[in-house]
Amino acid sequence: MNRESFGKDFQWGIATAAFQIEGACNEDGKGASIWDEFTALPGRIYQNQHARTACDFYHQYQQDIALVKELSIPNFRFSLAWSRILPEGIGVVNEAGIDYYNKVIDHCLSQGLEPWVTLYHWDLPAALSKKGGWTNRQIVEWFKGYVEICVRAFGDRVKHWMILNEPTVFTGAGYFLGIHAPGQIGLGNFLPAVHHAALCQAEGARIVKFHCPDSEVGTTISCTLLEPVRKVERHINATRRADALTNRLFIEPALGLGYPIADLKPLRKLEKWIQPGDEQNLIYDFDFIGIQNYTREIIKHSLTVPYIFAKPVAADRRNVATTLMNWEVYPDALYQILTLFRKRYRLKKIIVTENGAAFRDKVKGEEIADSERIQYLNDNLKSCLRAKYEGVPLEGYFVWTLTDNFEWAEGYRPTFGLVHVDFRSQQRLIKNSGYWYKSFLEHRKNLS
Ligand code: NOJ
Repeated sequence: MNRESFGKDFQWGIATAAFQIEGACNEDGKGASIWDEFTALPGRIYQNQHARTACDFYHQYQQDIALVKELSIPNFRFSLAWSRILPEGIGVVNEAGIDYYNKVIDHCLSQGLEPWVTLYHWDLPAALSKKGGWTNRQIVEWFKGYVEICVRAFGDRVKHWMILNEPTVFTGAGYFLGIHAPGQIGLGNFLPAVHHAALCQAEGARIVKFHCPDSEVGTTISCTLLEPVRKVERHINATRRADALTNRLFIEPALGLGYPIADLKPLRKLEKWIQPGDEQNLIYDFDFIGIQNYTREIIKHSLTVPYIFAKPVAADRRNVATTLMNWEVYPDALYQILTLFRKRYRLKKIIVTENGAAFRDKVKGEEIADSERIQYLNDNLKSCLRAKYEGVPLEGYFVWTLTDNFEWAEGYRPTFGLVHVDFRSQQRLIKNSGYWYKSFLEHRKNLS
């Protein structure tokens, strides 16, 4: 089993996101994002860390793109920071922001790398958040305006677009649990945020396709394999509710199936925000669906969790191997998710737009011996291949991520990169997993 086994057109890549790597948080006219503000609040982020400099990708993009090339990775996924392009979210365009992304895109192309651009990876302009952000229906117009500017500016060269990154996560963590920016809580924030994000997912795609008919338009969905703690009715039902929320909430309205209300009753309250014509407008026939999977969760019935009455059994209480995120190492989850999506939906094309793991890396002089990450990637690729052989229309795989970076509320502690970063000196060092991916991509390595 080697690169060849996946077919010659299979798209191999690596994924990043603006806020997690760029830094330069207020340089060259950039406006603040909700994450700039959230990270400035005490007690929200691990050790009150922030991303004002992060990996300094803003200044070091040439060196980092050189690393992608050095690793023989043909496709580079990154996101655009909305508030770099529109400091207020709407209105006056910051030409320096457009110039910057032009440089990044042109540099990728000059190095023979294909840019894969995510339009929204969680960093909403703070000015829009002050007007309600995702809870305000006007965001559909704000977002359309932003997408139009991006596609007009970059659509001549960018041929792979992703509209939203993991909408379940940014609405759930940001507008229900309050553990991500903008730190809002409750169903009254979560439900409108969900509906407006689902509308933006489809409306954004239509705009990209209109201006750029020869491009491929996708969106990305976070997916977790969920299994009941025991096969008894109450845990099975709890798992079904959790699955509706975790895996089905954004893909089903896009496919014309509506929200998974039958399996998660509180979603009925979405009605309040649904206007005539919306059901149709939620639908979009994406060229590809980006699947992002890291683990599985074991679910049990719980009376203490409102609405969903289900909760995961933490991995460290299950006596299983875990990553620094306390996520179970369970490569079969990716196979199960891919085959589940094939069984459930008729999708034209699936790309795994993120998969990877955070481990404590052992620095041995000039070597970073991260054998656990190599094993993880190896086993997840085997899962992909198995799913592909069984007929899943899987046509690409992106590792999360290039460099160690700012992992949201977890700060810099969980290191996911194929490249180690010393955040004091901004020195990069390719980990053994980076060399492993390189040799796999160069046909010098088989999956073991
Ligand atoms: C999901 C997100 O898209 C990304 O931003 C995050 O760093 C990784 N997965 C790992 O948690």
